Amino acid sequence: MYTPQDEKRLYEQAKELATIQVTDNADTVLMQLREVINYADWKYYVQSNPVLSDSEYDILFKKLHHTEQNYPELVTADSPTQRVARGLSERFPTVSHLVPMLSLDNTYNADDLNDWDRKCRELAETDAIEYCVEPKYDGASVSIIYDKGALSRGATRGDGVMGEDVTINVRQIKSIPLSAALMQYGIEQVEIRGEIVIHKNVFEAFNKTRVAEGLSPLANPRNAASGTLRILDPTEVRKRGLSAILYHISDYTLAPGAQRPAALETHYGSLQWLYSLGFPTPAKEMKVFNHIDEVISYCSEFEARRDDLPFEVDGLVIKVNSFNLQDRMGMTSHHPRWAVAYKFKARQGTSKLVNVEFQVGRTGAITPVAKIEPVYIGGVTITSISLFNEDVIREKDVRIGDTVLVERAGDVIPYIVKPLTELRDGTEEEIKFPTNCPVCDSVLEKQPEEAAWRCINIGCPVQVAERMIHFVSKDAMDIRNLGGANIQKFYEKGFLTDIPSIYHIDWDKVRTLGGFGDKSVTNIQAAIDGSKQQPLNRLIYGLGIRFVGETTAKTLANAISHIRDLYEWDKEKLCTLEDVGPKVATSVVDFFERPENRHMIDTLEAANVNLLNQKKEQMVGDSALAGKTFLFTGTLSQFKRSDAETMVEEKGGSILGGVSAKLNYLVVGEDAGSKLEKAKKLGTVNILTEQEFLNLINSESAQEVNEAN
Ligand code: IVH
Repeated sequence: MYTPQDEKRLYEQAKELATIQVTDNADTVLMQLREVINYADWKYYVQSNPVLSDSEYDILFKKLHHTEQNYPELVTADSPTQRVARGLSERFPTVSHLVPMLSLDNTYNADDLNDWDRKCRELAETDAIEYCVEPKYDGASVSIIYDKGALSRGATRGDGVMGEDVTINVRQIKSIPLSAALMQYGIEQVEIRGEIVIHKNVFEAFNKTRVAEGLSPLANPRNAASGTLRILDPTEVRKRGLSAILYHISDYTLAPGAQRPAALETHYGSLQWLYSLGFPTPAKEMKVFNHIDEVISYCSEFEARRDDLPFEVDGLVIKVNSFNLQDRMGMTSHHPRWAVAYKFKARQGTSKLVNVEFQVGRTGAITPVAKIEPVYIGGVTITSISLFNEDVIREKDVRIGDTVLVERAGDVIPYIVKPLTELRDGTEEEIKFPTNCPVCDSVLEKQPEEAAWRCINIGCPVQVAERMIHFVSKDAMDIRNLGGANIQKFYEKGFLTDIPSIYHIDWDKVRTLGGFGDKSVTNIQAAIDGSKQQPLNRLIYGLGIRFVGETTAKTLANAISHIRDLYEWDKEKLCTLEDVGPKVATSVVDFFERPENRHMIDTLEAANVNLLNQKKEQMVGDSALAGKTFLFTGTLSQFKRSDAETMVEEKGGSILGGVSAKLNYLVVGEDAGSKLEKAKKLGTVNILTEQEFLNLINSESAQEVNEAN
């Protein structure tokens, strides 16, 4: 859909548009902005090969949004800003599909496929059949209609005849184009079928966050996709990062006098053509074969690498390639005769739930873990499965002694689908959730909005050990060799008591333990010494502050010069940082207010652990904005606040939390309020528009270049 020349042009245009100010020619600029954003979306969501950084994309998007606000008469329905829907739906209206959504007949082995091929040849009255094979995606099916090239409706499968109109949510899925050049091919209306899916890694990250927040995780990517599609809040839908794969044209209407496009003679041709128009189809994953034997060997070869795809696939779909033959073969009331699913071996099994253990995590959350009789599923023996929290146990009504259905979906961790209640004999016992910590016996507590019970004794031995294990982990201080097992051992022996004690281990005592020779001790010591120079963001992450993951730790580190700066930051100031909301802010403030945590930082400092943002240290002094203070207020449309703040800091300037006599520059976006008033009153603050700020930064850069020359 984009030639290499197009791509080059659009890329250059993106760079140029990011710097211009829209004064006249708004209609041309808007068109160009839409074109480059659509291109960037396609590269990112369909090709998985981004061309712009997040902040470059953001600048362009904001510019488009802002300009459209200034010129509301120039907004078009297919503008990328129009995915953004506001408000909640009460429920989704029911709509009829243009053509009923059928399901597929299943096959499980070579014999089934040979039988199906024989029937196909009978029905098609020919032996010369081409088969097209593509993955069977495990998500939620949808049917999407484009009228005159514009996305006009998206509906769930429902009962196959009627589905729910979820257009508003379908518009949030960035791989689905809001418009396409269908009219150029004489296609007035088209109904396209596909699957809404969620990337396995997006799903895992999403569940991790849910569990960390004390919520129940979603069972699998399929449930996550279908549940998300029917959420009533489109903003939440957008956040969940759904993807789509479109795999079937179920109906189309030609414009009067138009010729059917040649591509619409075969299934393969139709999906390659849709792909060329910007649609996310399995164009790269499809294969055409002339004989069922080739299909069969492809099926087993593909099954062996089913986990290589970013989405969950539960089989392959084999379709007769020629649309003429498809029409000749027809369908039953349930499924087309020209297509069949080849289902991969189920990764489910049954086992007996023998016991439930309750584990205490680093943050004190209690996780029930089901111990089951060993069951072999898809190459892995499973003996232990997380039940996440008490709500999951109650919702599923699992009991000790139950036979349970276990599923292992791809790389996703195994989970209990349900107990087989029909196999109960009355001896099953209810799972009793403890009221006290299984390790330190403190009474467990539960916040009203959370699903997790917690041990809130921060001295609870397991939590202490887990905190140290987190501190040394690869993404935190990365102290190799001093892994979980050693920490446990040293902690039990009393050689380790808390995080700072890692820097004061009595190695003579360690040497008395078996297995710690000079070489291994030297290695661990070197790793511990090396960690003293780790950058500040790793230390902040390693401290294990609740809700502060790696990204937030980086944001915090970038905003400060020394870890103690955070003692001064209140919730309001923390909330001005990118992606820091009240929950994270409260947790950070609580952490740094606690005397025991301040003491820990003093002790780390005494051990020479780096507490400085060294990048910032190096920059100050030799740079253009050294000593200058900035504050941003109002809604910024040309850049992200965090990016602008980074720009200031990279040039040696600093960001203040409020307007005071210390402030040199206030950069104002739209709807600036009290801060602007106060700055005007003070009379000493330079007030800049966004553009003036950009000019200042750029002129400072120019100066630097000149000086360098
Ligand atoms: S073709 C008439 N192709 O599997 C055409 N379906 O078990 C019918 N599915 O309801 C659909 N990947 O939701 C087709 N590549 C693919 C598919 C696919 C997943 C789903 C679809 C269908 C279900 C049948």
